Amino acid sequence: MGRIVILVGSMRKGGNTDLLARAFAEGASKNNIVEMVSVADYRVNPCIGCNSCFTREGNHCFQKDDMADIYKKLRVADMVVIASPVYFYGMSAQLKAIVDRLHTPMRNEFQVKKLALLLVGAATLPKLFDAIKLQYRLVLDFFHLEDGGMVLVRGVKDPGDIQGTKALKEAYDLGTSINDETGIGDYRLTIILRRMSATQQ
Ligand SMILES: Cc1cc2nc3c(=O)[nH]c(=O)nc-3n(C[C@H](O)[C@H](O)[C@H](O)COP(=O)(O)O)c2cc1C
Repeated sequence: MGRIVILVGSMRKGGNTDLLARAFAEGASKNNIVEMVSVADYRVNPCIGCNSCFTREGNHCFQKDDMADIYKKLRVADMVVIASPVYFYGMSAQLKAIVDRLHTPMRNEFQVKKLALLLVGAATLPKLFDAIKLQYRLVLDFFHLEDGGMVLVRGVKDPGDIQGTKALKEAYDLGTSINDETGIGDYRLTIILRRMSATQQ
């Protein structure tokens, strides 16, 4: 049983992102401990790039805001789900602020092994999600994370537009597919085995 944190990037509680994230959470809760963290409930300042977290004990940020609560949840998470509305082809600013604040602890401290992506947007353009998908793939690569899958929903604009679409079932099914018996992803297992064999030589 793994621990999953879903970062929900819309300020509209009950909006399309929220409903999609809830559907995923319902499915994922069958085999995991799932927590939703909505940007509507936390005040998180953007990273100011001072880089003081590089050298501070525990890589803590100097900013005293609600990010402290989110760090606590992520510190024990095996998987993170990014759920966002598309804003100008990117994720929402509130969610980006949280993601940027993960920069140093994600690299040095957290045990996150898997990411997944849930996106909604009003347009039906084929390229609607391309920029966010590229960023997602680059992040997977950089942090050596496993791709937990994605659900991308076009043509939903007003709160609740997503109701009655097949996207909610897709998100639910993706959630139920997250069932990591060992709690250790393949990548981390490989590293641990490599370290063990190195110490035995
Ligand atoms: C500032 C802003 C920018 C947006 N930019 C886009 C966009 O580039 N493409 C698009 O398809 N929808 C765009 N939208 C529409 C939202 O993605 C859409 O309404 C979505 O369903 C909102 O999700 P929510 O109900 O979870 O808040 C934008 C909305 C806002 C408020």
